[in-house]
Amino acid sequence: MRGRAANLRAGLTWKALAAVAVSGALAVSGCGGNSSDKGKNDKSKVEVFSWWTGPGEADGLNAMKADFEKKNPGTQFINAAIAGGSGTQAQAVLASRLQNRKPPDSFQGHAGAELLDYIKQGQIEPLDSFYDQNNLKSVYPQQLLDQISYQGHIYSVPVNIHRSNMLWYNPAILKAAGISDPPKSVAEFITDLKAIKSKTKKVPLSLGAQWTADHLLESVLLGDLGTDGYNALWKPGADWGSAAVTKALTDYAEIVKYTTAEAASTDWQGAAKAVVDGKAAFNIMGDWAYGYFTGPSPNGLSKKDGADFKYVPSPGTDGTYLWLSDSFTLPKGAPHREGALAWLKEASSKEGQDLFNPKKGSVPARKDADKALYTGYLEYAFAQWNNPSTKLAGSFWHGVNANKRWHNDIDTTVGLFLQNKDVGKLQSGLVTAAKNDAQ
Ligand code: GAL
Repeated sequence: MRGRAANLRAGLTWKALAAVAVSGALAVSGCGGNSSDKGKNDKSKVEVFSWWTGPGEADGLNAMKADFEKKNPGTQFINAAIAGGSGTQAQAVLASRLQNRKPPDSFQGHAGAELLDYIKQGQIEPLDSFYDQNNLKSVYPQQLLDQISYQGHIYSVPVNIHRSNMLWYNPAILKAAGISDPPKSVAEFITDLKAIKSKTKKVPLSLGAQWTADHLLESVLLGDLGTDGYNALWKPGADWGSAAVTKALTDYAEIVKYTTAEAASTDWQGAAKAVVDGKAAFNIMGDWAYGYFTGPSPNGLSKKDGADFKYVPSPGTDGTYLWLSDSFTLPKGAPHREGALAWLKEASSKEGQDLFNPKKGSVPARKDADKALYTGYLEYAFAQWNNPSTKLAGSFWHGVNANKRWHNDIDTTVGLFLQNKDVGKLQSGLVTAAKNDAQ
């Protein structure tokens, strides 16, 4: 696993990458303690909240749940997952439950700025003693611990690392369009999209619900601006009005022309499936798509890596891991606090992570995973993640670099852009969002 020294060699630290997340003066309420004593020792149940209902992700969660049930026979596992890729529906429900002091026992929250929102609002408990009791500090990379810590206290249990910047493609469609190799830059990508449109009857780039356009945006920004340029955008006072950003957004607008009008009616699964079904040439999606493609039917698509689909980092981003991490929390006032701690123990364990991640399409957050379990794309991901020369950039859409308000303001701006296709308005909306929301 990447070490601090390795990151310093790469000129990057996780802390630096989410500087925006850790630099704000957050008003954190005291160090834990349950707001009510009622559920303090209750281990009869655990309600676990996530948005993992789709193939791959639900399979991963179920694998961990089965291990949990074996180890905790007296605890009923309640799966409170709410459908909607990237948590679009789940996060709204969660916000209202937290506001109404009806938290689940544990919920999925991304490491980085998103987690700090929960800390700032005093909604989750620190987990220092849990980490000490389970000897966890040494099993996670220090850089990841930095992303889930505030003022010296640790607040969540990371279960995985995902890569956002992946280009999935259908090799037969590229061949039919006369494209011998997948695109290495944003400019090459645009050329290829044009070729696919003119030479085949296929969709050049599949897109799904609106959030997948936000997801696409982060890969295009990274591809055009480079790692340093992209990372700089998330620091307070960053120049979102620059000519370089205009160029990236102009490319983004061009790329979006090669997607389909009916895209919004499907979530990420439909868009990803279009590639392996031979309907679309390309899809830019996080590596959870891999779990969906290769998982066994009826849930997964049982597709073959290399034959039905191939992958490369999204254009212009080779060598950079646009990362995100799913982590589980202990909400204040969790009704079954002991059940929640048992779940966190499962999510933090080597066995739990090695059961979950091969199905989920992610690599483990722990340093001591069983490497042999990670095959195909995951073998590549494992090697990339652990390569000291791989650079890091934080996903803004999946919680690392942008707090929730910023994330939502960008989404509103992108939504308007998808209607009016006006690059100038897109850029000024992003400038305003950064000005209002960067911390
Ligand atoms: C991300 C999440 C992933 C996966 C994806 C698609 O935000 O971190 O685990 O669920 O959304 O839903």
